[in-house]
Amino acid sequence: MKTDKKLTIAIDGPAASGKSTTARLVAQNLGYLYIDTGAMYRALTLEVLNRNIPIEDEEQVVQTARKIDICLSVDDHKIRTILNGQDVSEDIRLPRVTRVISIVSAFREVREIMKQKQRDLAKDGGIVMDGRDIGTVVLPQAQVKVFMNASVERRTDRRVKELQSKGINVDRESIKAEIIQRDEIDSNREVAPLKPAADAHIIDTSQLSIDQQVQKVLDLIENLPPSIKRT
Ligand code: CDP
Repeated sequence: MKTDKKLTIAIDGPAASGKSTTARLVAQNLGYLYIDTGAMYRALTLEVLNRNIPIEDEEQVVQTARKIDICLSVDDHKIRTILNGQDVSEDIRLPRVTRVISIVSAFREVREIMKQKQRDLAKDGGIVMDGRDIGTVVLPQAQVKVFMNASVERRTDRRVKELQSKGINVDRESIKAEIIQRDEIDSNREVAPLKPAADAHIIDTSQLSIDQQVQKVLDLIENLPPSIKRT
């Protein structure tokens, strides 16, 4: 699909709701840039762990967030996360990062630093950005806002499959518990909690294939009023 104007598209949702896969494919379809803001928080969390900084030490975590260089690039349709010049795309998905990420992501100053980086990446439009607070806080002016959700069971199935495909041994019940706990922390934090923007389109992906999810978002873009789609 071609759009005259370089639109800004925000996709939010809880853990393993299908937003990253959908956002990546929508961006590919439109020839837009895709930004996975979860990867940015994951890179920071990895750096904090690698430096043996106590995860609750807000001051040191914030200092680390100020110093690190995070770069998101696309290589042969694969999204790469580069942290201080090193490819950490695999490491940021490890369970040890996922287990503590919601603590790091709840710090006000950390979110402020990430928000500035994210707005900077989005300033020229032609972007699909996914996360938890994109439609509400980071890009409230986005022309299309989507909030993806799915049942906890479906989301657990997807995450288990994803980790298994990477050769990581997982216990289904602990993955499910981790998803529930992370959603709980993300939804109840004081700063930029996980919630749909008032003008977001809610898409329940429990019964949808990836192609169907992508198509739903593309339909929303297609059906935008001409005044928004054109320059
Ligand atoms: O892929 P998955 O749904 O597991 O998570 P993710 O999108 O990689 O995000 C991982 C964690 O980063 C979330 O659970 C949040 O704690 C945090 N995050 C956030 O606070 N704000 C964002 N915009 C994106 C992620």
